[in-house]
Amino acid sequence: MKNLKLIGPFTQLLPMTGLPIKGSLQDEQLTIIENGGILVSEGKIIKVGSFEDLKSDTVAIERIEGGQVCLPGFVDAHTHICFGGSRANDYAMRNTGRSYLEIAKAGGGIWDTVTQTRKAGQDELVKGIVARCHKHLTNGITTLEVKSGYGLSVAEELKMLRAIKKGNNAVIQDLIPTCLAAHMKPKDWAGTPTTYLEHIANDLFPILHKENLTHRIDAFIEESAFSKEEIRPYFENAKQNGFDITVHADQFTTDGSQLAIEFNALSADHLEASTSKEIALLAKSNVVAVALPGASIGLGCNFTPARKLLDAGAAVAIASDHNPGSAPMGDLLTQATVLGCFEKLANAEVLAGITFRSAKALNLKDRGILEKGKMADFISFPTNNYQEITYHQGQLKPKCIWKNGVKVGNG
Ligand code: NIG
Ligand code: FE
Repeated sequence: MKNLKLIGPFTQLLPMTGLPIKGSLQDEQLTIIENGGILVSEGKIIKVGSFEDLKSDTVAIERIEGGQVCLPGFVDAHTHICFGGSRANDYAMRNTGRSYLEIAKAGGGIWDTVTQTRKAGQDELVKGIVARCHKHLTNGITTLEVKSGYGLSVAEELKMLRAIKKGNNAVIQDLIPTCLAAHMKPKDWAGTPTTYLEHIANDLFPILHKENLTHRIDAFIEESAFSKEEIRPYFENAKQNGFDITVHADQFTTDGSQLAIEFNALSADHLEASTSKEIALLAKSNVVAVALPGASIGLGCNFTPARKLLDAGAAVAIASDHNPGSAPMGDLLTQATVLGCFEKLANAEVLAGITFRSAKALNLKDRGILEKGKMADFISFPTNNYQEITYHQGQLKPKCIWKNGVKVGNG
């Protein structure tokens, strides 16, 4: 076998295997391999097990010194890290009492970032993506989804999606692009929301396929953005053209999650406003519920009801929503552990939410767990006890990061 290498021993190795996609989890269900090792070749995992058992005279060893806990690389299933400018003024206004929707109506909000992003050249956008990805890498994130949605015209959405594609070639992580041209009706579109969406479907969707820019379509269903009725034909078109669907749903008002279920979307994200009705419907469906605690922290509002969703039987992933408006922090582990603290989530539920359950939200079957055949994306923390990771609420940073079996970051 080519370039076979054994990495270890890790004091504790948590492969995150054998756990269900849906429903609540207990820490006792976690597999913990003491003094574990990972055998890798050509970017893939060959075997995971006891370091001593995997050792042989012929295999090269990349030795781990000191106590370290190994986990799958984190997958951030929802970000908006392609943007120009800043929304520090929105943040200041919110913290003196103006609401997100009020600020949006007064000319701030998403449209402000659209204006600033349209002013930026494609190379400037790539630079921003690279810088943000670098920070995410030091926090252990080896795969990130990245949305467009601050262009809101065919040309400007293309500029963003091409920047994301270029960014993907310039960063260590894999970037999963998503078209969010349905983020809001652009203020410079003279027609109705429906004619805007028809224009995007007719004139942008074919180019997305032709240039291989994305196979994912997202929409923001909200009073300040689009209604369920406006989005339904847009999603029908997207589905017919082979796109996967994901939805910004139930952030302030409900409706979005119902459409996500109707279209068998991969995920419904936000859900801060979901009530017991939406929770029950999501739990019955195969739609992954994505909690975005970074938006709750950035807006100073309630968290997604993750505990209730898990208890009802839903698949709950946790993502950063890293964006200049509602979630400028962009630190997934900090946010996931804070959500865990407020929502009373077991470590297993927090860690599942940023590994295999978030990979499921992106329909990525090759990562999020550590076992034979999966990508050799993993991270280690400088501790002997995995419980320390959530306990430090994001302040315990990964010591080492491996992408495709190669050590790429931190010590
Ligand atoms: O996921 N809710 C809509 N979209 C983003 C916020 C975008 C912005 O405010 O710039 C979100 O929170
Ligand atoms: Fe978002």
